[in-house]
Amino acid sequence: VTKIGVLTSGGDAPGMNAAIRAVVRTGIYNGLEVYGIMRGYNGMIEDDIFHMDNKSVANIIQRGGTILKTARSKEFMEAAGRQKAYENLRKRGIDGLVVIGGDGSFRGAQRFSNEFDIPCIGLPGTIDKDIAGTDYTIGFDTAVNTAVEAIDKIRDTADAHDRLFVVEVMGRDAGYIALHSGLATGAESVLIPETRTDVEDLISGLTEKEKRKKLVNLVVVAEGDEMGGGSEIGKILKNRLPNMDIRISILGHIQRGGAPSCQDRIIASRMGYHAVESLLSGRHNVMVGIVDDKMHYIPLDTAVKEKQAFTSDWLKIIKILAS
Ligand code: F6P
Repeated sequence: VTKIGVLTSGGDAPGMNAAIRAVVRTGIYNGLEVYGIMRGYNGMIEDDIFHMDNKSVANIIQRGGTILKTARSKEFMEAAGRQKAYENLRKRGIDGLVVIGGDGSFRGAQRFSNEFDIPCIGLPGTIDKDIAGTDYTIGFDTAVNTAVEAIDKIRDTADAHDRLFVVEVMGRDAGYIALHSGLATGAESVLIPETRTDVEDLISGLTEKEKRKKLVNLVVVAEGDEMGGGSEIGKILKNRLPNMDIRISILGHIQRGGAPSCQDRIIASRMGYHAVESLLSGRHNVMVGIVDDKMHYIPLDTAVKEKQAFTSDWLKIIKILAS
C-alpha cells in the first residue's frame, strides 16, 4: 500500500480521534500518504476526501466525537453506492482503508473488500462493547465511567428522598454498559438484552427489601432490554409497587460524549498504530483487537458474525451484593 484512507462510521465513540491520530501519524512515519474521509462511507461516495498531514491531527487526542464526523450510510449498503465509493478511492490511488466503527461498519468494509481490491482494516469503535475478538472497544471505558458518575449523582438524590430510580443506560443489543455501571454503582438489579427479564422476580425482590426496610435506590436497565427499556420498566414498577416513590432517568447521549478516558486513548493509539502496521505487512481484511493485553487479529467476517462472549455470572454477583 502507498496511500490509505481513514474514516469513522456508525455511532461516535470517545477515543475515535485518538485512533485517527495514530493512523495518520503512523502512516506518515512509514512514508504513506493518508487521506481523511468525512462522514463515514458517505464521504467516500460523495468524494468528501482530503489529504491529511501530521498537523491535521494536532490537539485531538483528548477530544470526544470525531473530527472526521460519522454517519450510518444507507447508500453504501447498495452495490451502486460501493461502486461510486471505489471510483473515488481509485482516482486518488488510495489502496488501503482503515475503518473505525462497530459491527455495521465492518459489514460494509467486508463487502467492499470482497468486491474490490482494497484491503480494509477494522478498529472496534463503539461504546457498546458488543464486538467479538477484543477485550476492549474504543469508547466503552469512557461511556461506562460517564454512566457511573451520573448514576452516583442520581443515588445522592434517590437516597435523600428514599426513592427508587430506574436508570436507563445505552446499549441497543448489548448489556455491557448496564452490567458494568450497575455492578460499579451497587445497583439492586440490572436488566439487559442478553437474558430474559423476569419482572416478577424483580418485583418480589424489591417487595421483600421494602418489608425489611432495606433502602433500594437503583435499578439499571439497558435500553435494549426486552421489556422496552427504562420507561416501560418504570411504568410497571410504579403500577405494581404503589408504596414506593419511583422515578425514571434516561441517561441518553451524554454517554457518547466527553473527553476519552486514559484507557480509551491508549487502546485507540495502539490499535491505530497496528492498523497501519497490518496494512504494511499484508495482514489484510482483519479487525485489530486486544486480547490479554496483546494485539489480536480476526478476519472481518468473523468480527461481523460473532458476538462477544457474555459474562453471565455478573448478574448473580450483582444480586448477592445487593442483598
Ligand atoms: O451503538 C452505539 C449507540 O449509542 C447505542 O448504544 C444506541 O442504541 C445507539 O447508538 C443510538 O444511536 P443514535 O445515536 O443513532 O440514536
